Amino acid sequence: MPHTDVIIIGGGLSALIAARKLSKHKNVIIFTKSAKTSSNSYMAQGGIAAAIGRGDDWSSHFEDTMAAGCHYNDGDQVRTLVQQGPEYLKQLMEAGLEFDRETDGQMALGKEGAHSRRRILHAGGDATGKAMTTFLFREIQSSVQIIEQEMAVDLVIEQGRCRGIKTIHKDGSVNFHLAEHTIIATGGVGSLYKYTSNHASVTGDGIAMAYRAGVELVDLEFIQFHPTMLYRHGEVLGLVSEAVRGEGACLINENGRKIMDHIHPLGDLAPRDVVARQIFNQIQQGSEVFLDISPVSNFSNRFPTIHRLCQENDLDGSTLLPVIPGSHFLMGGIKTGRGGETSLPGLYAVGEAAWTGVHGANRIASNSLLEGIVFGTLTAENILSKSPSSLVSHPVFPNHHAAAGKLPEKEAIRRMMTEYAGVERDQQGLVKLKAWLEESFDPYAVKSIDKRETAEKVNMMTVAWLITTSALSRRESRGGHYRTDFPFSKSEWGKKRIIRRLHKQAAVI
Ligand code: SIN
Repeated sequence: MPHTDVIIIGGGLSALIAARKLSKHKNVIIFTKSAKTSSNSYMAQGGIAAAIGRGDDWSSHFEDTMAAGCHYNDGDQVRTLVQQGPEYLKQLMEAGLEFDRETDGQMALGKEGAHSRRRILHAGGDATGKAMTTFLFREIQSSVQIIEQEMAVDLVIEQGRCRGIKTIHKDGSVNFHLAEHTIIATGGVGSLYKYTSNHASVTGDGIAMAYRAGVELVDLEFIQFHPTMLYRHGEVLGLVSEAVRGEGACLINENGRKIMDHIHPLGDLAPRDVVARQIFNQIQQGSEVFLDISPVSNFSNRFPTIHRLCQENDLDGSTLLPVIPGSHFLMGGIKTGRGGETSLPGLYAVGEAAWTGVHGANRIASNSLLEGIVFGTLTAENILSKSPSSLVSHPVFPNHHAAAGKLPEKEAIRRMMTEYAGVERDQQGLVKLKAWLEESFDPYAVKSIDKRETAEKVNMMTVAWLITTSALSRRESRGGHYRTDFPFSKSEWGKKRIIRRLHKQAAVI
């Protein structure tokens, strides 16, 4: 049976960062379930936030990250992110990674939602993810084996330790691959929703796999909806980066009224959850919402990917882009420590699949690529610091257990999640969604998966159920989790109760 030092599941930025560092000392294999470039990182338009500009410093980046995250973030981890990020970025630039510059050679720094300064680096205008992953693929091409079209479906566990993975190849063959260390880097859950900015292959696989192995998960109810997905005839066509609003574009309704005025002091650049809810509410009230790009100078050069997207969809030359919110990022995930370690020895998680605590209840723009760099590196360093354990003797392979009965179609799962666990939720809808999921699926029964056709659906159902039950149990609103029946955070409720009590006391006096 093949075995190696480190297996990485997924080919996004954090996976490649970890692989690059590890491969100097270890044998590393990356598995991707489709083509290696089928990742959210590859598609990322928005850039990478780093406090490198004149007058900027890590403490300002720290404050902005905490405020956008509703102070639900892990402060120590955020400090690590914003302090170490610029140094790791510098190392990558010294190795040849290039970002856009102004004509005078200075770094071109963009602005995005909830950042108080211009601190977003971009590459190729709005093709930052492609530039970064292409650079890293080149860096690891001779040192890391990449196996494409091989979907990891379960973890192999021996005596309470992760020993590798079970995979199903595109041709249906089932294989086992053993390793001393396994890293989950499978991304988030975007494709559980009807409208999403994510690659279609992002179906929560790593999180579902971890759940089946009893690994600790956290904060799955916190899902970020990106406010501006280009939308026409009932379909989402692609992302319109927040950087466009950073260059002056604004959101208007069909009457031409600016919809972010008076909603938040940062207006169109308010935190994403606030902007997404305002657009959602306008649409619920029957109005279309448009991003007015007329204030943006040199749009086609500055945003070539979005410009192409508009051209392909007969919106060339139009300055009013129809938009709708779409699922974008999962703030929760597999609980990890500073070095990517999970609750299962031998198993690590990085990138969007991991909960590092840096995003709190709502991720600030362009912190995810930075998270990939910082925690991808720290995870690699953690693994390199371990002394070798005796390799696999008798691993326990995941049970060959029939996954489930007839599962709903993916479209039905997406429809139900969008309706009942979307931008806004409430008890009644979540109870209905939970009952619907449990009709055809027992989340406690699935032990392992043997068929590729069902694998994604089982994972989607599993993670949908986890999100739903998490959302049900959080009886408050905070960041990406908005309950219309509990529209305040617990601390806001506390304050309101005190004020009401004071009012009552005042009335008595
Ligand atoms: C965007 O370009 O608006 C997305 C960037 C991000 O999610 O960080």
